[in-house]
Amino acid sequence: RVDAPWGEPVDLAAVEAALASGPAKVLAFVHAETSTGVRSDAAALCALARRHGALSIVDCVTSLGGVPVDAAAWDADVLYSGTQKCLSAPPGLSPVAFSPRALEAIAARKTPVRNWLLDVSLLMAYWGGEGGRTYHHTAPINALYGLHESLVALFEEGQQAVFVRHARMHEALVAGLEALGLQMLVAPEHRLPQLNTVRVPEGVDEAAVRAHMLARWDLEIGAGLGPLKGQVWRIGLMGASATPWHVRLCLTALADALAAQGRPVDLAAALAAAEARLG
Ligand SMILES: Cc1ncc(COP(=O)(O)O)c(C=O)c1O
Repeated sequence: RVDAPWGEPVDLAAVEAALASGPAKVLAFVHAETSTGVRSDAAALCALARRHGALSIVDCVTSLGGVPVDAAAWDADVLYSGTQKCLSAPPGLSPVAFSPRALEAIAARKTPVRNWLLDVSLLMAYWGGEGGRTYHHTAPINALYGLHESLVALFEEGQQAVFVRHARMHEALVAGLEALGLQMLVAPEHRLPQLNTVRVPEGVDEAAVRAHMLARWDLEIGAGLGPLKGQVWRIGLMGASATPWHVRLCLTALADALAAQGRPVDLAAALAAAEARLG
């Protein structure tokens, strides 16, 4: 296990040292870290894994549909995601991808998998497996239709256009937050557009701010987790919520909540700063 300070990406040299310190079968990491708003350097981490003979397993739950997820360019071995984040589909499915190396490793298992639902060797029969498809579970067709529709919407908008929209909304939100006198946790080059972590100013009751935004504006933002508990808010701009309307609503609600705590802020300046990025 290689730890990093919360709010910073993991140090590649530390990962390399850990891999060099003994044989490793897999290197597992999170591409878009939902707890902190940090983006990992997936290409570099997958390359490190390959160099040390380990398979890479990449958690793309929060990245898929918000920033590029490129299994081929990264030469990643296993990617898994979710439908409920930037794809804006109902929860319940996990899109996955396997490299030929990962398929070989699965096929070469000597001990049977002891867990039915997580037995990937059984799932393999679903696409082109020898002997055809075996019954594994009841297909959740409602969830599949939901995912299908969300992907149709994504391709109708265009993948690049979707990424540009997330980036623009993020830039507008950050400009507005900074005009409210707030600071982002993560350095600009490591920020995720879809998960914005904002430092709670000294003396502000962060839970009261979230409660106010929810009660008065019907808008929920996330609390800090782990060591960041009480120190940050986490603002999602994912998929269908990465829109100018959500950016304006969030800045307005946050300014109102801060004012309710006796911290008057310049909402007009914040909205103007955001609007300048929205074009
Ligand atoms: C990065 C990341 N990985 C995994 C998960 C777990 O996803 P699920 O709740 O669909 O199991 C989450 C959920 O928030 C997440 O943000």
